[in-house]
Amino acid sequence: MFDIAQKTIDETRQGEAYSVELDSDHSLNKRFYIESYGCQMNFSDSEIIASILHAEGFGATRDHEQADLILLNTCSIREKAEQTVRKRLTEFRKLKKEKPGMLIGVLGCMAERLKTKLLEEEKLVDIVVGPDAYRSLPHLIDEAETGTKAVNVLLSREETYADISPVRLNSNGITAFVSIMRGCNNMCSFCVVPFTRGRERSRDDASIVQECRDLFQQGYKEVTLLGQNVDSYYWVDPQTNHAVDFAMLLEKIARIDPSLRVRFSTSHPKDITDKVLYTMKAYDNICKYIHLPLQSGSTRVLQLMNRTYTREWYKAKVNRIKEIMQDCAISSDIIAGFCTEEEKDHEDTLEMMRYAGYDYSYMFSYSERPGTLAAKRYQDDVPAETKKRRLEEIVSLQNKLSLESNQRDLGKTFEVLIEGNSKKSEAQWMGRNSQNKVVVFDKSDRLTLKPGDYAMVKINDCTQGTLLGQLIVSN
Ligand code: 5AD
Ligand code: SF4
Repeated sequence: MFDIAQKTIDETRQGEAYSVELDSDHSLNKRFYIESYGCQMNFSDSEIIASILHAEGFGATRDHEQADLILLNTCSIREKAEQTVRKRLTEFRKLKKEKPGMLIGVLGCMAERLKTKLLEEEKLVDIVVGPDAYRSLPHLIDEAETGTKAVNVLLSREETYADISPVRLNSNGITAFVSIMRGCNNMCSFCVVPFTRGRERSRDDASIVQECRDLFQQGYKEVTLLGQNVDSYYWVDPQTNHAVDFAMLLEKIARIDPSLRVRFSTSHPKDITDKVLYTMKAYDNICKYIHLPLQSGSTRVLQLMNRTYTREWYKAKVNRIKEIMQDCAISSDIIAGFCTEEEKDHEDTLEMMRYAGYDYSYMFSYSERPGTLAAKRYQDDVPAETKKRRLEEIVSLQNKLSLESNQRDLGKTFEVLIEGNSKKSEAQWMGRNSQNKVVVFDKSDRLTLKPGDYAMVKINDCTQGTLLGQLIVSN
C-alpha cells in the first residue's frame, strides 16, 4: 500500500532528511509531507507520526508542493542541525505565501527546545509539537486550521507510543528500527537530549516482541532496537512484577527466529553488562557490533563531560568485549574540542582510538548548546580553528583505522544479508555482515538471490568503507 521514496540531503548520521509517499491510496484527500533530521530515534518517531496521521485520513506525498501539511521532525544536537532546519522552514514559509491554506509544523527536539519561539516570535510555523506529544497532532492540526496557536511541548514520564504500529517509511522491506525506550537520564554535560526528550522510560517488552514478530512475518530480516541508552532498558510488568532487563529483551527477540537479525544502539560504556555480552555471544543472530561512544579519551575531560567513566574503565570494557567476542566490531562517537581540552587531552583521544581500533566512528566538533550543564558551567574556550584541526586529525586517524580493520577481513568469509543492488552497479549486490560492514559482491548466474536473502561471501578486496567479495556457491 505504501510507495515510499527516500531523499537524503545530508549523509551524516545526525543530519538525515527524508520524505515519504503513500500514493496509491486516493481515498485520502489531505496530504502531508514529512522531512526528518537527526538520529535514528527521530527517524523512528516519524514512522509513528505517519501512523497517527494516516489514521486521521492523511495520505503522504513526496512532493511538498502537493502537501496540505508540511512537517519537519527536527534535531537540536548541534547548532548546525538547527541552522539547516531554520533554512528549510524559511523556504517553506515562502511557499505558504502562494498557498495560504497550507500548514507548517515543527516537531521533535527543536520544537521542544524553542517551544513557542518559532511560532510566536519568528512566525515560521503554525504547529509546534514536542517528542512526547505526537498523539495530539490531529487536534493541533484542527486548531491551526481555525487560526488558533497550536502548541504542545509537554514532556511525559510514561509515553512510549507502545500501542502505535509505525508506518514504515523509506523501507527496503528488510531492515527496520524498533524503539524500545525514550528519553535519557544521563546528563552528559554537552548534551541537550535530556532536556528535549525528557526522562528515560522503557516500553513494555510484550509490545516490542510483538512488533518484531510482525516485522518478521512481513518479510523483514533485521531489527535495530533503538534507545538513547539501551543498556538501561528495564521494564517491570505491573501485573506480575516480573522484571525484564536489556539482556533478557535481546534474548526474547533473538528467539523469534534464527533468521531475524537483531541489532541495537546506543550503548553507554558505563551500563553495558557482561550479561548483555554473553547473550550476544550465545545467539548467532544477535549482530556482533556495539556502538560504544567514547566522546573523549581524556579522563579529565570525561569527568567534565559527566560521562562517569575513566579512560582505564573504557579500555577495560573494550578488553571485555573482545575477550568474550573476538569478532565483535566496535564503533564510537567522538567530540573534538570540548571545553578546556588541551593538546594532551586530544592526544589521549587519538591514543584511545588506536587502542580500541574502532571499525567506524561518528566525529563531531563541540557545539555549545544553550541550557546544557556545559553551557552553564564551562567556557567554550577551544578556538574554532583548533577544534577544526583536531577534528581533522581524528577523522584522518579513523579513516586509517577503518581501512586497517577492513584489510584484516581479507580472506575471511561472512554471512551477508542482502539489502539491494550496490550503488554502483545492478550486477552487484550490497548487504551487511554481522559486524555492520557494507559488503558488495557480484551477482551469480547459478544462484538466484534476492534482497532479504543471506549469502556467504569471501572477501578479496576492500576500500576504507566497503568490503568487496565473491559469492561462495556451494554445489
Ligand atoms: N556538540 C558536539 N557533539 C555532540 N554530541 C552530542 N552533543 C554534542 C554537542 N553539544 C554528539 C555526541 C553524541 C552524538 C549523538 O552527538 O558524540 O554521542
Ligand atoms: Fe535525536 Fe538527539 Fe537530535 Fe533529538 S537532539 S533528534 S534525540 S540526535
